[in-house]
Amino acid sequence: MAKAKVNFICQNCGAVYNRWQGKCDACGEWNTIVEESQSGGIGGGPATAGRRKGRASALFPLSGETEEAPRIVSGIDELDRVTGGGFVRGSALLVGGDPGIGKSTLLMQAAASLARRGHSIVYVSGEEAVAQVRLRAQRLKAADTSVQLMAETNIEDILATLSANGKPDLVIIDSIQTIWTDLADSAPGTVTQVRSAAQALIRYAKSTGTAVILVGHVTKEGQIAGPRVVEHMVDGVLYFEGEGGHHFRILRTVKNRFGPTDEIGVFEMGDGGLREVPNPSELFLGERNEKAPGAAVFAAIEGTRPVLVEIQALVAPSPLGTPRRSVLGWDQPRLAMVLAVLEAHCGVRLAQHDVYLNVAGGYRINEPAADVAVAAALVSSLAQSALPADCVYFGEVSLSGAVRPVAHANLRLKEAEKLGFRRAVLPHSGTDAPRGGSVSITEVSALADLVARIASGQDKSNA
Ligand code: TYD
Ligand code: MG
Repeated sequence: MAKAKVNFICQNCGAVYNRWQGKCDACGEWNTIVEESQSGGIGGGPATAGRRKGRASALFPLSGETEEAPRIVSGIDELDRVTGGGFVRGSALLVGGDPGIGKSTLLMQAAASLARRGHSIVYVSGEEAVAQVRLRAQRLKAADTSVQLMAETNIEDILATLSANGKPDLVIIDSIQTIWTDLADSAPGTVTQVRSAAQALIRYAKSTGTAVILVGHVTKEGQIAGPRVVEHMVDGVLYFEGEGGHHFRILRTVKNRFGPTDEIGVFEMGDGGLREVPNPSELFLGERNEKAPGAAVFAAIEGTRPVLVEIQALVAPSPLGTPRRSVLGWDQPRLAMVLAVLEAHCGVRLAQHDVYLNVAGGYRINEPAADVAVAAALVSSLAQSALPADCVYFGEVSLSGAVRPVAHANLRLKEAEKLGFRRAVLPHSGTDAPRGGSVSITEVSALADLVARIASGQDKSNA
């Protein structure tokens, strides 16, 4: 009999090694490589599969009849927007996030809402006992719904139970890292177990038309496999994010085979669970100090939705030889670029200053369109002169110091107008200039123009 093969697998990225090492060469994480044996079955690979003659399969042309993916709509608008209009039948969706961020809460609320709309839902909890899940359901006022609970971690038992109870519309697996299969020898939570359990569940989804949601914890320690190892297998990946100390949570699409990938849903965690935040700008601008220098409001776009956020900068003389640059909620390299452009093209001397940049409310910006707002906040802090409270900024800065147009200018302006802003500083865009309605527009084509405006006091809070 062949000796069971032993592999060393990185629990973070799934890279396979044939001997142990401290650092994974593939993802650079330390202490994530764990010994796992593979003795056939799922994950055993082609060597152990029975020899079988291939069967001819049909080939199809690209054109032909297609159907809209059938969806089940949860009625929670922020969630439905992120999934692209509801959960798709027969698909598998991964919901990842840090432990304690609120994944179980969100999915219990979604399950309850779906059940109220007449769908049959099974909630499989591998982490908590039935009594614990019930307690949470009571707190979330979901206990009166027809959601069925299962506290089970063996995938064969789960699938047998599901098929004995008819086909539910949706199955929630909380979490995939607790599920294990008889067919693999390694401990639950290892890459082999997580992958085989996910594979079995995805196969179940495809063959029955049930939508399957897998919950995955993001891990730093590498004791259990991260959600990354199943990302490529599922049809959609959502990440649930939030900053410690802040109440709101953002659900972000990372991958979606049935819809757009740049949507966000915003929620607020409270005593009764997660509450939808239909107008995030109000939340992010809520605690603004309008007279403070170093703050600029950026009109951002998330997917199809404009979001206004405050960018805060603190520029202070540095006692250190190498001044400190610290960023929260934005890219460090991007800040370095804006600082370099300010130095090189606008005569703003920052080499002897510490620079701290923060996006208010723990929000994270991914757009280069924030460059102009960041520059405005930096110059305002350096000049100790507050920017006008009713002004929004957006635009991308190029290395030559030019301010370049960005997409969706009209959408950004409309949101600013809705929230009572009266002025906007944006890139010069030639013929198809955006219409600001009641917002008065200042077009800048070079970053130096903006700096001159702020320095000369034209862009001043009481101007
Ligand atoms: P949970 O959904 O268990 O997180 P996850 O499944 O991602 O690990 O949420 C845990 C946190 O949420 C916990 O710290 C308590 C808090 N919470 C509330 O603030 N209000 C609530 O109504 C609920 C159910 C949880
Ligand atoms: Mg949980």
